[in-house]
Amino acid sequence: MVLVIGATGDLGSQVVRGLRAAGAPVRCLVRQGSAYFWLNDTGADYFFGDLREPDTLRRACAGVRHVIACAGLRTEGRRSHHDNVTRAGHHALWRAARTAGVQRVVFVSCLGAERFHGSPAHRARADAEDSLRASGLEHVILRPSLFATTFALAARYGAENGWVPMLGKGDNPVSPIGVADLALAAVASLDLPALRDRSIDVGGDESLGYREALERALQAAGALGASPAQAPAMLRGAGLPLLGRLQPRWATRLRELEVHANQDLSVPAGSFTAAFGWAPQPYQVALEAALAAPPRPEDILEIYPLMQHRGPQATAYEPGVMPLDQLPEGPPTAR
Ligand SMILES: NC(=O)c1ccc[n+]([C@@H]2O[C@H](COP(=O)([O-])OP(=O)(O)OC[C@H]3O[C@@H](n4cnc5c(N)ncnc54)[C@H](OP(=O)(O)O)[C@@H]3O)[C@@H](O)[C@H]2O)c1
Repeated sequence: MVLVIGATGDLGSQVVRGLRAAGAPVRCLVRQGSAYFWLNDTGADYFFGDLREPDTLRRACAGVRHVIACAGLRTEGRRSHHDNVTRAGHHALWRAARTAGVQRVVFVSCLGAERFHGSPAHRARADAEDSLRASGLEHVILRPSLFATTFALAARYGAENGWVPMLGKGDNPVSPIGVADLALAAVASLDLPALRDRSIDVGGDESLGYREALERALQAAGALGASPAQAPAMLRGAGLPLLGRLQPRWATRLRELEVHANQDLSVPAGSFTAAFGWAPQPYQVALEAALAAPPRPEDILEIYPLMQHRGPQATAYEPGVMPLDQLPEGPPTAR
């Protein structure tokens, strides 16, 4: 049994599909109120829980041989932030996995987690990496560069608004990676012996400037008049400490975006193939795949009519806690 954390995310949903395509039994830890009904179509089981609730992690790990942890926070909220989700949540997950005798954990962190300590999001991931290394668990840490889906999302914004904000000049190199390749790399990391206890920087073979990668995405999205533009100075550099005092959650996200538009986020060409054995998709192909996927509606009531299997096809359970006759029959209410 493989436990996937973050299964409803861009990456996690492809990880689940990859595992199911290989015939592996999969359990997804999902939060009640998330768009987990998408998973019905995969035949994966799901299990209600949260990285912030160690009890649910202990129960989710029971009988599990492998864990793929690919949850992440984009923007912090009042009750959901890098301290309790990224840092403490993963620490609790490693403890639960250790106690349950999990054989190997694959953790998806991010490129530069250990380098950009001025960004709280990067620092929290670096701490989660450290606690995994110290846990004694067999592990693989994947540190991806920016996903093609991230540029596709920005391009969709650009198509609607005529510009895409950049928190820097954007002349820094990045190696965008397609989510399909990264998902398969996470699956392959479960049992490739050579990857044991390694931390691997992961990216596509093309190294582009951040601005250039955004421009290519805008072009692929048909947003012809739109262009990347530097965000106002208030949102960059010197303005950030002030914003941090006024609104810490935004400042954390902006610090992360500042890393994206200023720092070296490239990996050597050929490194993906050397680690996993196949060449990653070219950026253009990954971008087109990301743009072809319909944007995921935020509202569960919009998602529901789009699903192939509306009832709970998969088993939603919390052993010993949730009786079968109490499983949800329709979409959960939005959080
Ligand atoms: N996107 C990029 O360009 C990029 C680049 C480098 C690294 N990464 C890393 O790659 C990972 C996956 O990224 P992504 O773009 O696929 O993320 P995503 O689409 O934002 O998905 C995040 C996932 O994490 C889950 N999650 C959030 N808080 C949780 C909690 N408290 N307990 C349990 N699950 C929780 C979300 O569940 P809900 O559905 O309930 O919200 C969702 O399934 C993240 O760690 C991210 O930091 C991303």
